[in-house]
Amino acid sequence: VFYPSIMANSCRKLIFNIYLVFYCSAVIMPHICICSQFTSSPIDQFNKDPRAFPIATNGEIFPWHELRLPTVIIPLHYDLLIHPNLTSLDFVASEKIEVLVRDATQFIVLHSKDLEILNASLQSEEDVRYRKPGESLTVLSYPAHQQIALLVPEKLRADLRYSVAIDFQAKLADGFEGFYKSTYRTLGGETRTIAVTDFEPTEARMAFPCFDEPLFKANFSIKIRRESRHIALSNMPKVKTIELEGGLLEDHFETTVKMSTYLVAYIVCDFTSVSGTASSGVKVSIYASPDKWSQTHYALEASLKLLDYYENYFDIHYPLPKLDLVAIPDFASGAMENWGLVTYRETSLLFDPKKSSISDKLWVTKVIAHELAHQWFGNLVTMEWWNDIWLNEGFATYMELISLNITYPELQFDDDFSNTCFEVIKRDSLNSSHPISNQAKTAIQIKEMFDAVSYNKGACILNMLKDFLSEDTFRKGIIHYLKKFSYRNAKNDDLWHSLSNNCLESDSASGGFCYSDSKKTSNTLAFQLAFLRKNVELKEMMATWTLQKGIPLVVVKREGRSLRLQQERFLSGVSKEDPEWGTLQERYLWHIPVTYSTSSSHAIHRHILKLKTDTLDLSEKTDWVKFNVDSNGYYIVHYEGQGWDELITLLNQNHTLLRPKDRLGLIHDAFQLVSAGRLTLDKALDLTRYLQRETSIPALLKGLEYLELLYRMVERRNISDVTENLKHYLLQYFKPVIDTQSWVDKGSVWDRMLRSTVLKLACYLNHAPCIQKATELFSQWMESSGKLNIPTDVLKVVYSVGAQTTAGWNYLLEQYELSLSGAEKNKILYALSTSKHQEKLMKLIELGMEGKVIKTQDLAALLFAIARNPEGQQLAWNFVKENWTHLLKKFDLGSFPIRMIVSGTTSHFSSKDELQEVELFFESLKAQGSHLDIFQIILETISKNIKWLEKNLPTLRKWLLITT
Ligand code: BES
Ligand code: ZN
Repeated sequence: VFYPSIMANSCRKLIFNIYLVFYCSAVIMPHICICSQFTSSPIDQFNKDPRAFPIATNGEIFPWHELRLPTVIIPLHYDLLIHPNLTSLDFVASEKIEVLVRDATQFIVLHSKDLEILNASLQSEEDVRYRKPGESLTVLSYPAHQQIALLVPEKLRADLRYSVAIDFQAKLADGFEGFYKSTYRTLGGETRTIAVTDFEPTEARMAFPCFDEPLFKANFSIKIRRESRHIALSNMPKVKTIELEGGLLEDHFETTVKMSTYLVAYIVCDFTSVSGTASSGVKVSIYASPDKWSQTHYALEASLKLLDYYENYFDIHYPLPKLDLVAIPDFASGAMENWGLVTYRETSLLFDPKKSSISDKLWVTKVIAHELAHQWFGNLVTMEWWNDIWLNEGFATYMELISLNITYPELQFDDDFSNTCFEVIKRDSLNSSHPISNQAKTAIQIKEMFDAVSYNKGACILNMLKDFLSEDTFRKGIIHYLKKFSYRNAKNDDLWHSLSNNCLESDSASGGFCYSDSKKTSNTLAFQLAFLRKNVELKEMMATWTLQKGIPLVVVKREGRSLRLQQERFLSGVSKEDPEWGTLQERYLWHIPVTYSTSSSHAIHRHILKLKTDTLDLSEKTDWVKFNVDSNGYYIVHYEGQGWDELITLLNQNHTLLRPKDRLGLIHDAFQLVSAGRLTLDKALDLTRYLQRETSIPALLKGLEYLELLYRMVERRNISDVTENLKHYLLQYFKPVIDTQSWVDKGSVWDRMLRSTVLKLACYLNHAPCIQKATELFSQWMESSGKLNIPTDVLKVVYSVGAQTTAGWNYLLEQYELSLSGAEKNKILYALSTSKHQEKLMKLIELGMEGKVIKTQDLAALLFAIARNPEGQQLAWNFVKENWTHLLKKFDLGSFPIRMIVSGTTSHFSSKDELQEVELFFESLKAQGSHLDIFQIILETISKNIKWLEKNLPTLRKWLLITT
């Protein structure tokens, strides 16, 4: 995408002298803390290979060859004036950037993508003072790096400030990035257009020329021109509105605090809002298109509560006077944390009591908690570079847990956190995973960093660390970190430093680093030495989790009172007998804070496993041990010898002797160990035999999830005997749970989640009473012309059953167009995608490609859903192969949607032929220049599926025969 052909050059040699001068001064490093990414000096590179310099679009040499900007010039302040025209769908704009020159230079390089630069000029501070007009600058453009260079006639002098003025224009973008247009339909059937920004990670450069790297923090003063029928919103509150000739209005916004470019935002729209005031006086508003105003109230309640909570928890005020949360009709991801102007996909913010289910409510609350956490983690303190994006995303994900536990205990979010970790373990136990902190250079690589490893693994290792240090110590540490790096940037080590530093200052004595020698006063040598040691220990420990990919397996063997521990790298899909196993283990070692409980004491025992092997002595004789208490650690546990049998017996005899999260963890680990060839499938299945009596719903749901996964795998492959037997088993064995479900929205969050899941599964398996009830509700709903309120938690299953007849399917599609609830639309679209008719599925894809009835933003989820349907899997996959270039016109390579489409339509494959097909397709993409990291992940996943089936299908078949 970013590599247009380079034009030939005529004057390459001429330009050398000038830049030699520049490079000499550029290598002398500055007084301001911005780190250079240079590995070898540009001079050397230049002497070695002058041809390495790029050619600008006009044929001249472009003076900069790196993807990262030079650090000789830093921006201090941007004055932005933007005038979007929502009729002609373009914008004209101008900006003045005040910059500080740190070393003399002859050019200014900044980012710009798809902008037409009309004019650029420069004033020195003196020029500004004496109102001398700016000097016009030559503008060179190098689209491959999304950079422009402004050549100055006379060298800029070190330590002076200059003002760069640029006039530019562009079309409002078609996709979901930069400054783009979004449309919605009113109840009256009118289509309206709004203009909105979405910049992270590297798209601010599509809206205005800028120093588009997170390290270049600056202040922004924004002005927006609009028609009177619209409003304009930006990061800061409006200070005034000026009326211009011709009736146009110009809104002036307060200057922002110092911040990164990717957090700048503005919107021109005709939305309405609800507002409230947080305890600290911050005004919070929720905006949505006028017809959706009634769905905004839950978000207001939640955001007020959460803002209060975070201000208190971090002991740092939210620094802006207002916070707006806006539901955008077209949005690529789930939400974006722009400072003071957070943008959301409609389904991530709006709550319709009549149509939103309990899991919709959980999602909305979680997304709000996540984006508000970013106002501190990310906005106030930002990672230095995208390689450490986990410092933003891992923390925001972790803070969801902390904040929701207190603000919404009734949502029982805590019981779902283990799933956050289980989700990433799937991927992190493949060799193609990557370390949390990973190199990222190109825009595509940067986008790919926004993945489960940064989000989920980041959150899980933070949770493990909190469990190890104690909540209080951990909290003090992160407050310390946030205060120290406010309005600045940080890297991994800064975090570990703040955490261990604080650990010594606090006098809390938990089982970890903060033991009693911290009592010593801080000015003694002993203290300083102790401090250094702790700092190194914590840093060393966390390096094993952030700089090394993968997840450890702790193998436990009990011999009398002695526990032998061994750690290895856990790889699903590779067993110990495989020839590659040994090489894949080399040099992997973690510092694992293990915990365990035993039959003889309820206490949580702790130990740090730093070596490959270690031995622990139990103080008493015990019937069983269970490691990884409450599943707080990021590791999998295998029990050798009689270990698993002891635990299976325990679960069968009295499962409540283990904590609910320990039961959940055992189910998870057992099935993971099957994939790694450590445990036989029948053992894992035997372990689920106690589930009939399981009282903890998360554990029950986990067991059901694995069984359903097996079912879907054999169903896809048309292995009919096993499919039938497994169906029979599921319906028989779980009959008591299925039959006790009522079709109402009642009970605790988990009661309601269980109801949705169990009824969906029962109807999917054609359980007659389920189909009957769903059909009945669906008919009543149709007869009422869609007016009847069906309980929200069973809406999806009722619609899905209804979608199996042509009349039902057509009616649902009509309702899809009319519905004002995003939550309902998602459920209808899912239901439509479960049809067994190819032509109906194809029609959906066509509608998704057209983007009118089914919005382009929902295309990825649609293809994902169709590919899950056994009747649709081939259709979806063929479609993706044949329409790849069309899809790339809609979404950027590396973006969430593209990755979701590729993995959604391929990673369930489990035959050699399918693997070969996918391989061929990826090869052809690579040949066209499209390479993604997930290609390797998908290929490894499919190979794993193939092996899994080969190995375990006979066991499954036999187990079902014996058991049923
Ligand atoms: N900062 C991200 C938005 C983002 C995602 C920017 C990908 C660039 C690339 C935002 O905070 C986020 O994480 N959004 C999530 C929702 C969240 C609740 C997990 C999303 O969009 O899925
Ligand atoms: Zn985020």
